[in-house]
Amino acid sequence: MSDTLNPSEVPFTAVATAGTIPAGQGRVFEVSGRLVAVFFDGETYSAIDDLCPHMGASLGSGPMKDGIVTCPWHAWNFRLCDGTWCDNPQLKVDVFEVRVVDATIEVRVPPAKPVELPTARPSTP
Ligand code: FES
Repeated sequence: MSDTLNPSEVPFTAVATAGTIPAGQGRVFEVSGRLVAVFFDGETYSAIDDLCPHMGASLGSGPMKDGIVTCPWHAWNFRLCDGTWCDNPQLKVDVFEVRVVDATIEVRVPPAKPVELPTARPSTP
């Protein structure tokens, strides 16, 4: 039996009331032990990992336009639809499902994968 949770089995978590995130902005919420940036483009909501993979800035505080958020520290751009870094599609941030139920914004966020640290090599004499 696998101890990995199927993403579709992760429950949605309520994070905010619809209308409390202004159009063109994001807000950050802690969900499942992770920081999640939720954006509103005026029509739909998007959710990505808040942590910029460059040096850890909060993407949720970056400006957002035309489906792209710009990191506030060094201006890396990420597509909200799939988390792709616009300059190198091989690098992505996690993207999460978002829905609105009875005027409540909900996100489905699996717990972060444990970090695997490299094994230390024995020192040579
Ligand atoms: S910390 Fe985001 S681009 Fe540098």
